Amino acid sequence: MKLPFIFVAAGLSGLITAQNSTNFITTLNSTFSTTGPRNLRIYTGKYGPPVEEFHYYYDQWPIGLAMSKQGRVFACYTRGTYAYTLGEIVNQTAEQAYPSLAPNTPPRGLYDVLNSIQFGSNDSNTFISVQALYITPDDTLWVLDTSRPTINESQAPSMPYAAPGGPKLVAINLSNDSIVRTYTLPPNVHYPDSCMNDLRFDMRANATTSGGGIAYIVDSSNEGRTGFIMIDLGTGESWRQLTQHPSTLRTYADVPSYHGLPFHLRQKGSPLNFQQEGLDGAELSLYGDIMYYYPLTSDYLFSIETRYLRANLSNDKLSAKRAFDNAKNLGQRGGNANCFLSDSLGNLYMLMHSQNAIYIYNSAASQAQPYIHDPRIIWCDSANVGFDGYLYFNINQLLYQPDWNDGGDGRQYPGLIWR
Ligand SMILES: *[C@@H]1O[C@H](CO)[C@@H](O)[C@H](O)[C@H]1NC(C)=O
Ligand SMILES: *[C@@H]1O[C@H](CO)[C@@H](O)[C@H](O)[C@H]1NC(C)=O
Ligand SMILES: *[C@@H]1O[C@H](CO)[C@@H](O)[C@H](O)[C@H]1NC(C)=O
Ligand SMILES: *[C@@H]1O[C@H](CO)[C@@H](O)[C@H](O)[C@H]1NC(C)=O
Ligand SMILES: *[C@@H]1O[C@H](CO)[C@@H](O)[C@H](O)[C@H]1NC(C)=O
Ligand SMILES: *[C@@H]1O[C@H](CO)[C@@H](O)[C@H](O)[C@H]1NC(C)=O
Ligand SMILES: *[C@@H]1O[C@H](CO)[C@@H](O)[C@H](O)[C@H]1NC(C)=O
Ligand SMILES: *[C@@H]1O[C@H](CO)[C@@H](O)[C@H](O)[C@H]1NC(C)=O
Ligand SMILES: *[C@@H]1O[C@H](CO)[C@@H](O)[C@H](O)[C@H]1NC(C)=O
Repeated sequence: MKLPFIFVAAGLSGLITAQNSTNFITTLNSTFSTTGPRNLRIYTGKYGPPVEEFHYYYDQWPIGLAMSKQGRVFACYTRGTYAYTLGEIVNQTAEQAYPSLAPNTPPRGLYDVLNSIQFGSNDSNTFISVQALYITPDDTLWVLDTSRPTINESQAPSMPYAAPGGPKLVAINLSNDSIVRTYTLPPNVHYPDSCMNDLRFDMRANATTSGGGIAYIVDSSNEGRTGFIMIDLGTGESWRQLTQHPSTLRTYADVPSYHGLPFHLRQKGSPLNFQQEGLDGAELSLYGDIMYYYPLTSDYLFSIETRYLRANLSNDKLSAKRAFDNAKNLGQRGGNANCFLSDSLGNLYMLMHSQNAIYIYNSAASQAQPYIHDPRIIWCDSANVGFDGYLYFNINQLLYQPDWNDGGDGRQYPGLIWR
């Protein structure tokens, strides 16, 4: 039935008043003419496959996660003041330093001060602040160390610049828990203000001329020099692409909502600010020919053919320009997301921390589709499909960390691995 205009107007003013929930029942009149409690529709925020609580974190808040073929589980933790930054899960409620405490203990501490400027430790033999983990099918654990810890987290937090030697990719052979190789990065590839955030691999012999495979690493630099860093794992040479391309930069002055709360960056000792992180999620297509990626604060999904990332100045003087010209915007995906992961069917899962959800990007249908949604997903961060076929992911309540909340820690143990 078509309602007369005047009635609609009255209904609108009723709704505006009704936003004060205290007087909701008495003010909202008109068509809702019953008396007594209303049977209102309530948003339950839940769908998707069943989940199991696999592990509880009680000591340190995790960031990265990786599952080995043998079912070993590894977590990493950005520091801070934590005793260790790389750990192995030992049972449902405990983790321990991996491979032991010594490699988690830089000899001069987490940072140095030179001419009153803080630099992260340049020690390439120990882990300083590990951000991400990955296990390749040959059971190598790859450890990505930013070497940029947070100093003074609850007072006036600062993040020291990286010094060459500190930022590194470390390969650990899980069959005898020993470091096989350490890749450090020169200062024209990893800038002092770079911050490596996640990593993916193509280990096929034809990915590089050396035949040793390639690592694709995202640089999420809060200072804004974002982009991709590639390492030829055979030669150890490294290079960048898409540096400061708009598709890798943070969205200008973004105010996302996390769990119904409009989010501004509130760092103690600093003015009100915005989320600063750039390029964050990255995942390869099933055959490694396309890289999908996005910055933390963007609602857009981007892609580029990986051949443009593999090219570099030594084999193509136009490689930077070609990469810039071939980044594609695939449109919006329905919210902010951080980590990306894939499975052996080619599904691309996006961790939608702003939506308490995981979505799938369906490249055939050119759109994001729902996978799981649950109010207990309080910032999903880092995920893996295990060799056992489960999808594992961390819940770390990152939005409540002191570094973003005026020094106050609103997180409540335990953190979780769900599967
Ligand atoms: C909400 O409405 C009630 C009843 O009219 C009033 O007492 C109260 O002050 C209002 N609250 C706000 C936040 O406006
Ligand atoms: C609701 O509608 C009834 C019937 O028109 C009217 O008597 C009553 O005053 C209205 N209540 C409010 C709060 O507007
Ligand atoms: C888990 O491991 C920790 C540390 O080794 C130990 O203290 C605890 O008792 C273990 N819990 C269970 C349930 O085995
Ligand atoms: C590492 O940093 C220390 C302290 O700043 C400095 O003395 C040392 O020369 C650096 N080592 C290298 C290899 O750069
Ligand atoms: C930590 O913050 C306090 C308060 O601003 C400051 O006095 C102190 O120097 C800082 N410490 C470090 C190690 O940066
Ligand atoms: C890991 O170490 C084992 C035993 O030392 C060896 O057999 C295996 O080839 C190594 N794996 C890799 C990837 O190097
Ligand atoms: C582990 O295995 C590698 C070969 O894969 C070997 O070079 C290394 O010495 C071994 N380390 C230990 C501690 O056994
Ligand atoms: C590597 O070989 C596979 C299988 O032959 C092929 O599909 C892929 O495109 C090749 N990759 C590159 C970078 O040439
Ligand atoms: C250039 O890329 C090739 C792989 O395509 C790699 O082998 C080589 O190390 C790279 N060179 C430099 C200087 O980065």
